[in-house]
Amino acid sequence: MTPRRPALTVAIAGFGTVGRSVARLICERHHSRVRLEAVLTRRPAAARREAPWAPPHVTWTDDAAILLTRRTDVVVELIGGIEPARTWIASALRAGQAVVTANKQVIAEHGRELIALARARGGALGFEAAVAGAVPVIRGLQEGLAGDRVIGLAGVMNGTCSFVLGRMAEAGTSLEEAVAEAQARGLAEADPADDLDGLDARAKLAILASIGFGRHVSPRSIRAASIRGLDAGDIAAAASAGRVIRQVARARRPGPEARSIAAGVSAALVPRDSWLGRGRGAENVVLVHGERSGTTVFAGQGAGGEATAVAVVSDVLAVALRRAVPRAWPSGPAACVRREGASLRYVRVSNLAAAGGPDPARLLEASGIGLERMLTGPNRQGGRWAAIVGPCGEAALDRVLRPLARAGSADRPVVRLPLFDPEI
Ligand SMILES: NC(=O)c1ccc[n+]([C@@H]2O[C@H](COP(=O)([O-])OP(=O)(O)OC[C@H]3O[C@@H](n4cnc5c(N)ncnc54)[C@H](OP(=O)(O)O)[C@@H]3O)[C@@H](O)[C@H]2O)c1
Repeated sequence: MTPRRPALTVAIAGFGTVGRSVARLICERHHSRVRLEAVLTRRPAAARREAPWAPPHVTWTDDAAILLTRRTDVVVELIGGIEPARTWIASALRAGQAVVTANKQVIAEHGRELIALARARGGALGFEAAVAGAVPVIRGLQEGLAGDRVIGLAGVMNGTCSFVLGRMAEAGTSLEEAVAEAQARGLAEADPADDLDGLDARAKLAILASIGFGRHVSPRSIRAASIRGLDAGDIAAAASAGRVIRQVARARRPGPEARSIAAGVSAALVPRDSWLGRGRGAENVVLVHGERSGTTVFAGQGAGGEATAVAVVSDVLAVALRRAVPRAWPSGPAACVRREGASLRYVRVSNLAAAGGPDPARLLEASGIGLERMLTGPNRQGGRWAAIVGPCGEAALDRVLRPLARAGSADRPVVRLPLFDPEI
């Protein structure tokens, strides 16, 4: 008879939305291979009371040193942010412990050094939950599509933005009302800046692009534009063109050997019936475009404690099965990231009459940028003008629109969004 392997011992740092769900999943599934030993939280006594499902042997502490010196087999980092998460992960890896994290910021910024550390010690570092929650897109890229060369990535990967833009479309609410509703339902943080301003999605894109293109992509090199400033009129204008607005993170490698990539995160108009347009609620959709495999779609629950906990526990089980030594992060210099090329663009200008600004159609015509389709009439009384223009590059369009941006009042900016056709 094969001797029974002792259970893998686990310590969890962070008892918030995901930490609580991971602890509960481990305790309630009674997985014979995994045993929860310790939980780090700033409220240990209250947390213990809130977890009647946890067995009595679990240590609840607010002291990171206690957690890290317990020398459990796996440390699960779920506090978020860069520090102290990075220090704790590095210290656990140095001590020979395996680490599992859902922290996209720490992996996007420091994944390279942490993975090198894990590999040097023969240790494990799992971070599947850092991108797209329960959707196994990192494994899909590293294993399922390893035989192909990835040339493009595009995703709707931020549940808060999807909820906010969805509510604006369904209920005609303002962006601010939709954000308040997301916060009331626990779908958005008290400070939703990272979500709305694209920093969350660009960290995820940097991780996927580094893995997919085999070249380190720094999150800071990717331009991220906020969805703030959009209103229900923009959603309606997009609908009149058969499109919906989504926050889209995308990256393309122009040629197989290209050193630079084009990447960006912003709101974009995507076809209503496309993969990116169909996602609902917190659903994430990631499209991977391979040289030979064409488009592969990864979709599913991209946020929420329960769904994310599944990805975390799957990584823990991979450690238990000795399958979690991380693939090497791409070595060599970081990719040079540039702005995306020409595309059709949605342009909306408000308060034209009040600002006494120039006629947008004339400005565009004079610069050689074509007017593809008017989406609102040239209504100088209401002062709102919206159209699809181009194809043109973002920088060229910005130059042309500068006189309008100057004329418009600060709270009603000129909005310009790319039209994105994901299957191309
Ligand atoms: N929520 C999701 O849907 C989701 C999806 C995918 C990935 N993630 C990632 O998962 C991680 C956790 O997210 P979350 O949503 O669970 O966040 P959260 O609800 O804010 O939980 C984080 C927890 O960590 C605790 N914490 C922070 N710093 C600490 C410290 N120095 N010592 C002890 N405890 C500390 C916080 O304690 P206090 O309550 O005392 O502040 C909080 O309970 C993040 O990296 C996030 O990006 C989340």
